Amino acid sequence: MRKHIVAGNWKMNNGLIQTETLISDLKQQVKTSDAEVMIAPAFTNLWHAFQSTRQDDIEVVAQNMHFAENGAYTGEVSPGMLKSIGVKTVILGHSERRAYYNETDESLAKKVDTALEHNMRIIFCFGEELADRKAGNEEAVVERQIKNALFHLGADAFKNIVLAYEPVWAIGTGETASPEQAQDMHAFIRKTLESTYGHTVADDMTILYGGSVKPGNAKEIFGKPDVDGGLIGGASLNAEDFYAIVNAF
Ligand code: PGA
Repeated sequence: MRKHIVAGNWKMNNGLIQTETLISDLKQQVKTSDAEVMIAPAFTNLWHAFQSTRQDDIEVVAQNMHFAENGAYTGEVSPGMLKSIGVKTVILGHSERRAYYNETDESLAKKVDTALEHNMRIIFCFGEELADRKAGNEEAVVERQIKNALFHLGADAFKNIVLAYEPVWAIGTGETASPEQAQDMHAFIRKTLESTYGHTVADDMTILYGGSVKPGNAKEIFGKPDVDGGLIGGASLNAEDFYAIVNAF
């Protein structure tokens, strides 16, 4: 059975005090949906966020990690470090990391392997750029991103993977994929999974949509049969907006 998940990607926002405030604001919000709620604060605030949400239905997840266990990688954070503070889920492959930090399908495949070796859950992000969509190549790009980073895995590994389709042209731009565009791509992703791994893996996969999801459009997007939740950037920085999206299920 696939799950509904709404995850807030805080990106490089919020110091310690703002993190405290936002978490306490989040706790004031009432959850009526059955969606799992996740927040992804910056590394420096993960421990604090983890401690402050211990009693709540909010999972704290990391925005990134290194592929190595440890070693001479100045400025990086390892999966073991994340696990040591209670973080069990990591976002990998966000388009900003691909664009600004040269993350490739190949380097992401290594991160995926390390995360799975550590028994971590992965929210794996991918999505086409505007030029790809204009050229009608969006399915080919998405298929390549998924296959290159994930299709060396056995079927069992997919139990620990959540997919997040995030068209780059819709991230932080205010421009959202239409619910139909999201549905079409999610159905394509499920079909791609099915052709290699079979019906159960495809049907059980949680596929999130990300890119300018707001309280005003969440219900329509989440109403589509293959959209199982959202990865929310800008709107996750406001507790009321974020929970309006969570409660859109
Ligand atoms: P956005 O970001 O909601 O601000 O478009 C989404 C994301 O980057 O995950």
